[in-house]
Amino acid sequence: MFNKRFFKKLEDSIRRVCKNEKKINLHEPIFFSEEKKNLISCINTTFVSTQGNYVEIFEKKISKLCGSKYVLATNSGTSALHIAYIVSGIKPEEEILIPSLNYIATSNVAKYIGAVPHFVEIEEESLGIDVKKLEKYLSQKTVRKGKYYYNKYSKRKISAIVPTHLYGNMSDIEGIKKISKKYNLILIEDAAESIGTYYKGKHSGTFGRMGIVSFNGNKTITTGSGGAIIFKKKSDFLKGKKLANIGKSEKIFKTTFDLLGYNYKINNLQAAVGIAQIKKINQILRLKKIVNAKYKKEFLKYDNVKLFKNISEKSYNNWINILFLKNIKKIEKIKLIKYLYKRKIKVRSAWDLMHSIVYFKNSPKMDLKVSKKVFNEILNLPSSPKYGL
Ligand SMILES: Cc1ncc(COP(=O)(O)O)c(C=O)c1O
Repeated sequence: MFNKRFFKKLEDSIRRVCKNEKKINLHEPIFFSEEKKNLISCINTTFVSTQGNYVEIFEKKISKLCGSKYVLATNSGTSALHIAYIVSGIKPEEEILIPSLNYIATSNVAKYIGAVPHFVEIEEESLGIDVKKLEKYLSQKTVRKGKYYYNKYSKRKISAIVPTHLYGNMSDIEGIKKISKKYNLILIEDAAESIGTYYKGKHSGTFGRMGIVSFNGNKTITTGSGGAIIFKKKSDFLKGKKLANIGKSEKIFKTTFDLLGYNYKINNLQAAVGIAQIKKINQILRLKKIVNAKYKKEFLKYDNVKLFKNISEKSYNNWINILFLKNIKKIEKIKLIKYLYKRKIKVRSAWDLMHSIVYFKNSPKMDLKVSKKVFNEILNLPSSPKYGL
């Protein structure tokens, strides 16, 4: 079924959506005129480092977009996660529930702080954590001691849950919130890919104690590299702010460092670009909806593939369009990706499942049947907003 004829048919479909461009990348940002103007102003004023007006303005704009008072812009989504994990108070040797179908940062950062990712299953409908299966699993595999729950086998405390809203699509956040309350877990959302995605009018990343977003070059809006943490509590925000600013305590007559911190602040150049981008987010989201609609139309003609469909009630950013290649064999998928690459069309498979990463092989995990199936079938399609123009 996934033969050369299919490869050509898919190539033609992608080309039609992507305006027959010669070279089609997975996701390119789109820029307007204000980015350049703001960057020139940084150069003219010499404020190119972490000091400068644009940083604060950018944070305020993210606050407004997300409807959250406390926002800290960082130099990447990964550094945002690192700060969020430290601020939450997760301790070494505690376990964090993380989906296995994921980007590496969520799990790596657990390791940075000496914690242990505990890999959980996803559901096909949202590509996020399968709440029903997790609930059953936790009821069987954990034991309560005082206020907290412990892994019966590893004896470690399970202290947090970090759902990722994969490819911009909202996980079952209501269900995840319920589980986090029942099992007394800290909820941190990895909303790196889901800026512009809402659930019942509330922005992704604002449901738990903290959430993070990424402004990497391949995201819906970008600062080159960059990220932000959205905090629920002022005390967390103040701690995060200090941690990201090298733990510095500054007075005009004395600068000292009274907390082990990190050089994680966003700089003025990045924020300058971010301000211009965030002003255009609605336009970018509209363009991305058009790209998604074009793919929907194309794939009506297929019977062996399915375009991922966002569940209703959740407005999402259409970051990356996802195709499921039903029951495709590994070798067929490799051949397909090679075929498209040769023709300068960049599609992508999902990242290797986290439980298969060499340094996470001993981490605890649920049965991951669905994650494995989705991993085999998934193909990320070129989704740059410019194809909606
Ligand atoms: C799900 C997820 N988490 C975290 C990150 C990390 O963000 P960054 O690349 O900005 O460090 C990414 C980004 O690529 C991501 O996709």
